[in-house]
Amino acid sequence: MNVKLLLDLNIIFDCYNNERKALFPESVQLQELLATTNNAQGYISSSALDNLSFIKYQELKQAHPELIRNQINKIIELFITELLAQFKLAKTPSYIKIDFEDIEDSQMLASAQAIDAKLVTRDKRLLTKYKNETLSVADAIKLLRTPRTPAFIDLQKQYIHLQEKIEQRTDTVLNHGKYIMGPEIQELEEKLAEYVGVKHVITCANGTDALTLALMVLDIKKGDAVFCPTFTFFATAEVISFANATPVFVDSNEQTFNICPQYLEKQIKEVIAKGKLTPKAIIAVDLFGLPAKYPEIEALAKKYNLKLIEDAAQGFGGSIIDENGTDKKAGSFGDIATTSFFPAKPLGCYGDGGAVFTNNDDYAELLRSYRVHGKGSDKYDNIRIGMNSRLDTIQAAILLEKLAEFPQELINRNKAAAHYEKELANTYQTPQVPEGYTSSWAQYTLLSDNREQVMAQYKEQGIPTVIYYGTCMHQQTAFVGLGYQQGDFPVAEKLCKQVFSLPMHGYLKTIGLTSSYLTLFN
Ligand SMILES: Cc1ncc(COP(=O)(O)O)c(C=O)c1O
Repeated sequence: MNVKLLLDLNIIFDCYNNERKALFPESVQLQELLATTNNAQGYISSSALDNLSFIKYQELKQAHPELIRNQINKIIELFITELLAQFKLAKTPSYIKIDFEDIEDSQMLASAQAIDAKLVTRDKRLLTKYKNETLSVADAIKLLRTPRTPAFIDLQKQYIHLQEKIEQRTDTVLNHGKYIMGPEIQELEEKLAEYVGVKHVITCANGTDALTLALMVLDIKKGDAVFCPTFTFFATAEVISFANATPVFVDSNEQTFNICPQYLEKQIKEVIAKGKLTPKAIIAVDLFGLPAKYPEIEALAKKYNLKLIEDAAQGFGGSIIDENGTDKKAGSFGDIATTSFFPAKPLGCYGDGGAVFTNNDDYAELLRSYRVHGKGSDKYDNIRIGMNSRLDTIQAAILLEKLAEFPQELINRNKAAAHYEKELANTYQTPQVPEGYTSSWAQYTLLSDNREQVMAQYKEQGIPTVIYYGTCMHQQTAFVGLGYQQGDFPVAEKLCKQVFSLPMHGYLKTIGLTSSYLTLFN
């Protein structure tokens, strides 16, 4: 959990004047704590800036009557610049409730409310009148010193980091009003294509639709067999049945958790031998962020004349160095690749979102048509049955800022994973990243024979853990009709009983990974 504190001006000034420093040492302590505490952010209300500079001006004029206006302005500029390096500005929202006893106070309160922060003040009137919205300095210090549970995926921390940029982007969309297929959609599709290294990106409403759109383009239908891992999220297999085709499950590799190419070939041969279904496609999943073994899977797809879909819902940001030494990014494997922008994904928005990636011009044209009711020359010219699956402009605007930050977040995730590996490799089976592969670490997943006990211990120490996934696809009630038995996929079934995941996100290093986690791991 992140603590957000918006400081009243009197507290700010306590720290920049020797007399006041002596009088109010707690204010100084609070500011020092704010600067050094992880998961805490200090704010100043933007409405207070004018007053801040006015008070500073008076103070300087009194202490140094010889200074001319320009000199004072320069000092004020440096003072505010220094403040803004430590504090973020919180804007005063339009839904402010004006308190006519003190308008500036109500602006600060509204700024705090807008970002879910407490206003820290020495003002007795404020502390009494707005008990729930304010904190005394002593209580703010107490709050900062209270240990906080780290988030499993800290989207708040990311938002605090990107707040100004995201606010600017979303304000732009709210004001230009092109909420559906606005200019940010094309901008995002171009930037995603450039990042992944593919010719076409077609955004859509979510990662499940992205897979459905891919199956529509590949004309997957009743009687077709589509191979996919049994150890995955439900959507991977769900879309196959949704297209009236038959999912054929495949066991996993114990080290990487991804689809096992040898088992895949066994399943393909079996379907051919049985002769009931037409083998049509493979959906390989970049589970927990690690790209599947594409060199081998692509060779199998070619050998058996199957289409290959990369489900990179969790894999965006991962990569494999190919035989020419090129780092090939997740989203560029197979005939079509898909991803999800679900908030918790490596690249997530603030709602549902997804995208389809392809180098094939014909597929791209079809995808653009399918996502808008099978449109032809325009959306009222409907030339095929499609769906309504567009990404909202506002989500594209948010994703543009998140994508710009993504390379740094990816570095941070990999550093956190390396740290986990160093600390945990002797205790658990840690996730293995093959030579030449990079994971985007959608999850950091460990294996343990006594997972329940281990998870309970982590919980006691305030560290959240989650099981991804406790049930294989062939064990899901929805797929009972396919006739699989317990024991059909021994590796995946074992994984389901042993896996658990630790917190992982692009801001983990800033929550004191070393100190809190080292004690835990020892
Ligand atoms: C492997 C995999 N495929 C597909 C999806 C579906 O994505 P969405 O939730 O955006 O529909 C997910 C999402 O959790 C996923 O993890």
